[in-house]
Amino acid sequence: MEKTPKSRGHFTSSLGFILATAGSAIGLGNLWKFPYVAGSSGGGTFVIFYIIFTIILGLPLMMAEMSIGRKCQLNPIGAYQKLNKKWTFVGILGVFSSFLILSYYSVIGGWVIKYFVEMLVGSDFGGDTTAYFQNFISSPVEPIVYHLIFMVITAIIVIGGVSKGIEKVSKIMLPALLILVILVAIRSVTLPNASEGLKFFLMPTFDNIHSIKDLGNELVLAMGQVFFSLSIGTGIAITYGSYLKKNSDIVKNSSIVVTLDTIIAVLCGIAILPAVFSLGMKPSAGPGLLFQTLPAVFESIPFGRFVGILFFILVFFAAVTSSISMLEVVCAYLIDNFGISRKKAAITMSLIMAAIGTIASLSFGPLGDMKIFGMTFFDLLSFCSDKILMPLVGFLTCIFVGHIYGSDKLADEFNPEGGKPRIFLRKAFAISMKFVAPAFILVIFVMGLFE
Ligand code: PHE
Repeated sequence: MEKTPKSRGHFTSSLGFILATAGSAIGLGNLWKFPYVAGSSGGGTFVIFYIIFTIILGLPLMMAEMSIGRKCQLNPIGAYQKLNKKWTFVGILGVFSSFLILSYYSVIGGWVIKYFVEMLVGSDFGGDTTAYFQNFISSPVEPIVYHLIFMVITAIIVIGGVSKGIEKVSKIMLPALLILVILVAIRSVTLPNASEGLKFFLMPTFDNIHSIKDLGNELVLAMGQVFFSLSIGTGIAITYGSYLKKNSDIVKNSSIVVTLDTIIAVLCGIAILPAVFSLGMKPSAGPGLLFQTLPAVFESIPFGRFVGILFFILVFFAAVTSSISMLEVVCAYLIDNFGISRKKAAITMSLIMAAIGTIASLSFGPLGDMKIFGMTFFDLLSFCSDKILMPLVGFLTCIFVGHIYGSDKLADEFNPEGGKPRIFLRKAFAISMKFVAPAFILVIFVMGLFE
């Protein structure tokens, strides 16, 4: 098995790295998931918990994962193997969570392509965007076709190799996405009655928390969303960190990525929730929220169709820069450890994921009654990744860094070659890895299991 770092591709610039890592972080988690999870839970309360967890769990864990990657110059499994053989399983769990997530992420990616196509050909959503959406996701064939298209595109990009393509696309896509989301947000808050939605989204009321169980539920959702949105506990920051040059600053890089990701998520909430209230829809509509709301918003603005086309193509790009990161992690492992070719790895893995995703897609329609532990297959995949695997990997990473490997030793990796991080930063990182982050994750994790 491969243990020594071999020469591997590097990002050509720090900007390239930030764009690729932000590209992985910013995706359907921000655009599709964050607004609907905020909408179906406490609104402002959820947002507050989300931001707190981003700072105390998300940022330190991202720094830890990036440092592990750059230190070892290996994929997550190889990296743990190198640092401490007994902890190899943490790398395996991380790669496995990427694998699971992509299996259902690609289903939503397919929905995005469908909406892009419909916008492009100027389809009429028939006045009732909810019925239109339900009709589409529950049909047995169409969503699967789009899911497969999304998977094929992901595989093609990954087969093409790491940085170049990703860097180029991200450089244009991220700023464009930011501008468009701001535009849609402005339109959304100026719709009649939008202020109610804005209040719901931005003002924590604690109205819906009546018991420990409610609180637990809210905390679990917020924590899961932080992991999902920042791609933490999936081996991605380790893999991309391994492509990071020795002279770039990890604290700075991870702070930028985390900040960008949070800004985009909050802006998406502002783009969607006020419109939901204004249009008289329910914020608790679930996974369809984005698809039910925005077509109606686009209808209400000049050049709406054009904006709609642009919006869905950008959502698609955001989703693809995330999906390639997941497939890349899985492939990097197979390439590094088993020496199989990139092409073979990408094709085999995407075929398996396509099969799992097909079942997930069918669970919105023909297989809707097939319940496992009371959940549909799609919900089960999402439950396993958001509520179990990612927090578990996050927790184990903290324990490993804080108590086994040593946070100080890892903190040496933070700064550009030679420079030592400030004492304060080291202390904060140590406290976070040893006590704060693992304690929070553990308590919330247990609350979640009893929920
Ligand atoms: N962070 C991505 C998003 O917000 C999703 C993702 C999760 C990507 C886990 C990689 C790993 O859409």
